[in-house]
Amino acid sequence: MAEFALPANSKIRKGRDHAAPEGAKRPRRFRIYRWDPDSGETPRIDRYTVDLDDCGPMVLDAVIKIKNEVDSTLTFRRSCREGVCGSCAMNIDGTNTLACTRFIDDIRGDVKIYPLPHMAVVKDLVPDLTDAYAQYAAIEPWLKTETPAPPDAERLQSPEEREKLDGLWECILCFCCTTSCPSYWWNGDRYLGPAALLQAHRWIADSRDEHTGERLDALEDPFRLYRCHTIMNCTKTCPKDLNPARAIGAIKQRMVARR
Ligand code: SF4
Ligand code: SF4
Ligand code: FES
Repeated sequence: MAEFALPANSKIRKGRDHAAPEGAKRPRRFRIYRWDPDSGETPRIDRYTVDLDDCGPMVLDAVIKIKNEVDSTLTFRRSCREGVCGSCAMNIDGTNTLACTRFIDDIRGDVKIYPLPHMAVVKDLVPDLTDAYAQYAAIEPWLKTETPAPPDAERLQSPEEREKLDGLWECILCFCCTTSCPSYWWNGDRYLGPAALLQAHRWIADSRDEHTGERLDALEDPFRLYRCHTIMNCTKTCPKDLNPARAIGAIKQRMVARR
């Protein structure tokens, strides 16, 4: 029989309260998703009140402060703190974004933080990106050529050819787009998703690559590419202001042009 309520073991329960430090002048509450697979318990939302007068301006600053000073069990990924590594992607205030580039003061009310949606969770705010990386690997993200490279120079491009890679090379593989895509939620096992497809286009559009036809053949499939229904969540959420939906459209145009 169909079950329309969440199974009991996936319901989120109320977690622990961590009060503001004594004398806090600008307290702000963070509600953070917690789940430890080793505990055997269901997920919970813990609440931490942080004094913003004693904290950096970004959501990642607060999360690091909580881990360092309040609760060392809080688990999340981060590396660069500059918006270039993509590892601190999470769902903040209802939007997939980078914790290190999201200002706390831009959020009204409690700051709600969850892992990227529709991915298995490893622990707390850490999503399991195994499948997403396998999909990235599947588009073969490297230059493929037949012609030998010049012995004493790089493979050259004109400025116009190089310009065609703008809006593509900047992708930091944070997967904010892929995990915001309804088509990926329902068909993530067979649809490559916007991040991998934007990367596919990055190589298709590269004038130096000599395997364009083979790359298009690999995408000519009802699921891998054509599950994109131009819903545009991906473009709306990209923290680097890229446009994966446009990249996907460009691949589809290539498919039509070569028929
Ligand atoms: S435009 Fe395509 S890839 Fe982007 S969210 Fe919509 S269906 Fe997903
Ligand atoms: S296109 Fe944007 S949202 Fe998607 S993986 Fe790249 S940087 Fe992240
Ligand atoms: S820590 Fe690298 S993008 Fe946020």
